[in-house]
Amino acid sequence: MKKTAMITGGAIRIGRALAEACVVHQYQLIILYNSSQQEALEFSKHLKSSNINHHLMQCDLSLQDQVVNVFENIPDDFKPVDLLINSASVFPETDDWDNIYENWESILAINSFAPLALCQQFAQQAKAEQDYQIINLLDARLNHVQVERLVYRWSKQLLKHMTLDLAKTLSPKIRVNGIAPGAILPPPGKGKDHLNRLADSIPLKKTGSVEQLKRAVDYLISQTFVTGEILTIDGGEFL
Ligand SMILES: NC(=O)c1ccc[n+]([C@@H]2O[C@H](COP(=O)([O-])OP(=O)(O)OC[C@H]3O[C@@H](n4cnc5c(N)ncnc54)[C@H](OP(=O)(O)O)[C@@H]3O)[C@@H](O)[C@H]2O)c1
Repeated sequence: MKKTAMITGGAIRIGRALAEACVVHQYQLIILYNSSQQEALEFSKHLKSSNINHHLMQCDLSLQDQVVNVFENIPDDFKPVDLLINSASVFPETDDWDNIYENWESILAINSFAPLALCQQFAQQAKAEQDYQIINLLDARLNHVQVERLVYRWSKQLLKHMTLDLAKTLSPKIRVNGIAPGAILPPPGKGKDHLNRLADSIPLKKTGSVEQLKRAVDYLISQTFVTGEILTIDGGEFL
């Protein structure tokens, strides 16, 4: 039987890796992207060469009118969506106390409202008795108080609470889980040194990789008795 996974931010970096993890479990893919069209087309070429059924969807998740119509625009062959992975997010460098309102609306729109609206549309189309699941990408740094990336942190805290509350609200039909990565990839524009500098302060004395996040997705797909769980993948950084 066909199964579909939808991955937001699926054209690049962690989102793309998680899409690859779904392929291993025989999902066909819907890849949502916004500005990474080139990368989406390149990923599509790669998927075609391996005969993996997929559909690319361009959507600006900062725009409510686009977000609330995503599921209406899914081709019939990809319905219903069985697995939704909310990975897209924004992490602006200027997100601190002095600039608290600068990116407020767009951060909350992309990191909190868009996942919620997609969860809602996902739940509305999940009709049959099968294993439906939502996986939200959170952040291990939520486990510590920090003074930077404030609005980003608050937007992810909101997503964390939605993850836990929706696990109960949407049960028994839909499982809802989170993955909270630590130092996995340097922020866009920063090099590997950025992560290497962090490694010393991490109890396991190393940073992570997308492979470890793929294993978390493997686990959440296979372990059908888990809901409301947040897997922290951070080498102990925020213990
Ligand atoms: N990198 C890490 O080590 C790390 C650590 C902790 C948590 N995380 C979490 O893991 C997830 C993936 O991280 P990442 O580092 O791969 O993220 P990233 O490189 O910052 O990628 C952001 C993704 O979000 C999408 N996106 C941003 N604005 C969008 C918009 N307006 N509409 C639609 N899509 C939009 C981008 O799509 P386009 O490029 O197509 O616009 C891109 O695919 C995020 O939720 C992040 O918070 C990552």
